[in-house]
Amino acid sequence: MAAKSELRSDGKRTRKSAQDGPPANGRNGVEQHSLRVGNGRRSLPPVRNLVVLGCGGFIGSHLLDRLLDQGAIRIEGWDLHDEKIAAHLANPKFTFHREAFSDTRIPAGLIEAVRWADAVINLAAICNPSQYNTNPLEVIKSNFLDVYRLVELCSHHGTWLIHFSTSEVYGRTVSSYLPAPDYSNPDLFELEETATPLIMGPIQNQRWSYACAKQMLERFIYAHHRERGLPYTIVRPLNFFGPKMDFIPGRDGEGIPRVLACFMTALLDRSPLQLVDGGAARRTIVSIHDAIAAVVLMLQKPDRAANQIFNIGNRENEVTMAELAELMRLVYAEVTGDPSYLSHPIVSVSSRDFYGEGYEDCDRRMPVLAKARELLGWTPRISLYDTLLETVAYYYRTYGEATLADRPAEPAGKVFGDYPTKLPSDGAVDVGR
Ligand code: UGA
Repeated sequence: MAAKSELRSDGKRTRKSAQDGPPANGRNGVEQHSLRVGNGRRSLPPVRNLVVLGCGGFIGSHLLDRLLDQGAIRIEGWDLHDEKIAAHLANPKFTFHREAFSDTRIPAGLIEAVRWADAVINLAAICNPSQYNTNPLEVIKSNFLDVYRLVELCSHHGTWLIHFSTSEVYGRTVSSYLPAPDYSNPDLFELEETATPLIMGPIQNQRWSYACAKQMLERFIYAHHRERGLPYTIVRPLNFFGPKMDFIPGRDGEGIPRVLACFMTALLDRSPLQLVDGGAARRTIVSIHDAIAAVVLMLQKPDRAANQIFNIGNRENEVTMAELAELMRLVYAEVTGDPSYLSHPIVSVSSRDFYGEGYEDCDRRMPVLAKARELLGWTPRISLYDTLLETVAYYYRTYGEATLADRPAEPAGKVFGDYPTKLPSDGAVDVGR
């Protein structure tokens, strides 16, 4: 990176100064091989130089919000989109590269940056279930083939790779495969990073194309760690929710987003919320802010975070999708001040009609979080209600207010005389059915 030292005419640094790079920790090409840091042979340096792939997405945008707001970390980011990170494009600590990377095309700047970086965070992925059974070739390619060379690059340079995988690698719970599903025994449904078997359905159920590609990449990373000393961290997110997640069809994207944006779209459009197969599937929802706090702790404690797999979720925030729908319409009624949303229609739809053939659902995701707590000192704190209130208000401000501007707003106190205006913020949710 030493040659990359120019300033743009607008003053924004597009390339690094000589002081910025080559690596302050002395890592470079040839020496690299003798400085392998995996398998606990050498401490990782504090993270000052960071590469973020997929920096323009939901998680990336919140990560930049946090990291660029504090500390002295310099970030080189790659993505094809920058709408969610527009506020950071002029930040001198951040350089944005609008470039794709794949198995056949690794930009020269990325190769340099991986060598320069103390850590590489990979967030790039196709992670919307609607595509797993309808577009599996692209899903497998983007989640495995396009990334394996990045793993090799990190391995070659001994650069710590923090890879965002997915809770879907667990597949379905053992319990769901029993003749009569039974959640009374935690061993049959709780998800523990290094103990729980990874179980997914048959090949023709193409829902698992994504989980399988992600699992293969996890195994590839782990193999690089064991055979070549790659320092790695695998993050398995469990339903991060927050502002800027996904897209709202017809407004800033097309297709079927994840459940949060699906329900938001229905509320914004005054169309029914749709429960896939009755909405019995359960998810534990974690606020994006809690999740980002976990990543920040990883960067602050590299020797505790490296060479580990972490579930990042919130056990207290478990809901069925039917409960989530009811809670979201309640929160939306509060945010808009319009009580008619309290009885907004919720309908059931078959997964075949909603997603097409080959969809199969994860029944439940209850993460064991002991490792994140013990190694990082991390515990999620934000309740489901608070998470939804922030998120729903964001979407309403961004997409809804204009369409409702003509409607007379009633004061919330009057509107909600007989309804709870706030659910308990300890995560307990009882919205009734
Ligand atoms: C997805 C990804 O596959 C995971 O990799 C990722 O970790 C996870 O999102 C996440 O956000 O963390 P999933 O939870 O199945 O997994 O994705 P959603 O589309 O949000 O679906 C959640 C549940 O809601 C499913 O049971 C789905 O069938 C249901 N759903 C979805 C509805 O009932 N109605 C809708 O309109 C949309």
